[in-house]
Amino acid sequence: MAVCRRRIVDRMSDLVSSRVGRALVASAAAGAAGLFYATVIERNAFALRHVTMPVLEPGSTPLRVLHISDLHMLPRQYLKQAWISELAALEPDLVVNTGDNLAHPNAVPAVIQALDGLLTHPGLFVFGSNDYFGPTPKNPFKYFDDDHERQHGEPLPWRDLRAAFIERGWLDATHRTHEIEVAGTRIVAAGVDDPHLDRERYETIAGRPNPLAQLRLGLTHSPEPRVLDRFAEDGYDLVMAGHTHGGQLCLPGVGALVTNCGLDRSRVKGPSRWGNHMRLHVSAGLGTSPYAPARFFCRPEATLLTLTPVSHGDADAQMESLPQLAEDRS
Ligand SMILES: [Fe+2]
Repeated sequence: MAVCRRRIVDRMSDLVSSRVGRALVASAAAGAAGLFYATVIERNAFALRHVTMPVLEPGSTPLRVLHISDLHMLPRQYLKQAWISELAALEPDLVVNTGDNLAHPNAVPAVIQALDGLLTHPGLFVFGSNDYFGPTPKNPFKYFDDDHERQHGEPLPWRDLRAAFIERGWLDATHRTHEIEVAGTRIVAAGVDDPHLDRERYETIAGRPNPLAQLRLGLTHSPEPRVLDRFAEDGYDLVMAGHTHGGQLCLPGVGALVTNCGLDRSRVKGPSRWGNHMRLHVSAGLGTSPYAPARFFCRPEATLLTLTPVSHGDADAQMESLPQLAEDRS
C-alpha cells in the first residue's frame, strides 16, 4: 500500500513539474483567483453611477431621481444594507425602485431598514419575479436559451413589503397611473407587473398620458421590448427598468453575454433611446441570486439620474451623445 501511495505521489510530482502540469496549475490558480474576485470582491463593490438624461419638458427645473433595483436581499447581507442606507444622504427628489427586492422569506425587515432614509422621500415602485418567488438553483447556461423553462421558488411575502412601502408614502405603480408633483415637476407615472412572468397587463394603463405633465415616466421590472414599444407608442418620455443585472458576468471588451430578456445586449444597462422619442434607463441592480453570487466586470450599482429639460433645438445632438453619457458614468 505504501509503495502504491509513493508511486501516485511521484506521478503527481512529475506531472506538476512538467510544462503541461505547470500550465494546468497556473490555470487552476487563475480560475480560483477569478472566482474569489467575482464572488467576494466585485459582488460587494457597490457603485453609485451618475447619469444625465434630457427628458423633461422645455423650461423644467432639473430633477434628481435615484434608481435602485434588484436588491435580492438576504437578512445577513449587512454590507449591502449599510451601503444602501447611506444613499439617503443624496436627498433625491424621487426614488424609483424597479423590483426584485427579496431573496429570502425573512428579508422584508432588512429591506425596509436599509431603505428607511429613502422612504422619507417620494417614491415609486413595481415588483419583479424575486418579490413574488424565492430563488432556486439554476443551470447558468440556461440563460443563453431565451425560452428556458421558468422555475419558481417558495412564495415570498411581497404583500408585507408592498404594505410597508405604501405605509411610508411610496406609490405602487403596478397597473396604476399616478399624477404627482415632485420638486415642482409634474409627473405622470405608470407601470406594469413583471413581464418576465408574463404578468403585465398594459391595457390597464394604456393611453396617452397627460400632455400637461413635464415628465411621462414608465416603470417595468423586466425591459421586454413588447412593453417598451407600448410605452413609446403612448408617448412616454422615459422608462426605467431593472432585471438584467447588467449581464452580471461580463467580459472585458465584449460586455454582457446575456440580458435574460428580449432586450439587445447593447442596452443591458445604463441609458439608451427607444424609438424616436423615448429614453430607457436600465439599472444593473445591487444584488444577485444567492445561487449565482458572482459579478464580473459588472459592479452592483444604484444610479442617480439628473433629468434635464430637452431643448427642441438640440434634441438631436443630445440623442447622439447618449453613448458618451453611458461611457461617462462613474
Ligand atoms: Fe434580479
